[in-house]
Amino acid sequence: MDTKTFQERILTHYEKQGRDLPWRKTTDRYHILISEVMLQQTQVDRVIPKYEAWLKAFPTVSALAGAPLAKALQLWSGLGYNNRAKRLHDAANSIMEQHEGIVPGTVKALQALPGIGPYTARSILIFADNQDLATVDTNIRRILIHELNLPGTISDKELFRKAEEVLPKGRSRDWHNALMDYGAAILTSKATGIKPKTTQPAFKGSKRYYRGRIIKHLTEHETITPDQAAERFPCREHDLKGILEELEAEGLIENDKGVYALKG
Ligand code: ADE
Repeated sequence: MDTKTFQERILTHYEKQGRDLPWRKTTDRYHILISEVMLQQTQVDRVIPKYEAWLKAFPTVSALAGAPLAKALQLWSGLGYNNRAKRLHDAANSIMEQHEGIVPGTVKALQALPGIGPYTARSILIFADNQDLATVDTNIRRILIHELNLPGTISDKELFRKAEEVLPKGRSRDWHNALMDYGAAILTSKATGIKPKTTQPAFKGSKRYYRGRIIKHLTEHETITPDQAAERFPCREHDLKGILEELEAEGLIENDKGVYALKG
């Protein structure tokens, strides 16, 4: 399919059936940053209420930077991968220190912030500023491969070049929103048979599962000791004390004489 037909197909679908999502009503880079980090590995429906609650509690970079990490972890509860909340909190502090509280407007400056990779940096500038940048997530990869008849073995670099080639200049924001919707509604993984390159590992009983249980427990009950953890979350495959130590090393929790709590 030629580029023009492809663009028209995607954009027409969006005009007719685009989703009305809360982060599509803002051009605030901080708000987009929050939505993009939440949308990594968490589904849209689950993100919407969390996004709204988060922005109510932390409407600005300054509000997030000044809040205790424990509050951020509490509001993150249910989204999974709790260190994403910690990274956002760290990023907010860096933005206060290095950019006077304003989320920077270049890929380079964004990528220098904690926890912001190339995909998130580009997404922020696409959705907040309508910058003519390309980005490829698992949905966009699937659409490009399917609609442009590309081999499933295409390299990331090649695919990125294709994404740049088909970007309708000046319409980056609409284009990427349209791709997201087309991938979610029409060209699903099931419809195309194109599988994501990486799939989420099984959750129940995984180390990540116990990490989440411990953080959730701490948002509700304040403290836990390794013995209490072992009693509360019986598990043979993982060493709960090791998990507590790991969470502490990552800066999510702290311990006072063997009693662990969320970092203040
Ligand atoms: N996933 C990542 N970014 C998204 C967006 N802006 N809209 C819908 N799904 C997304």
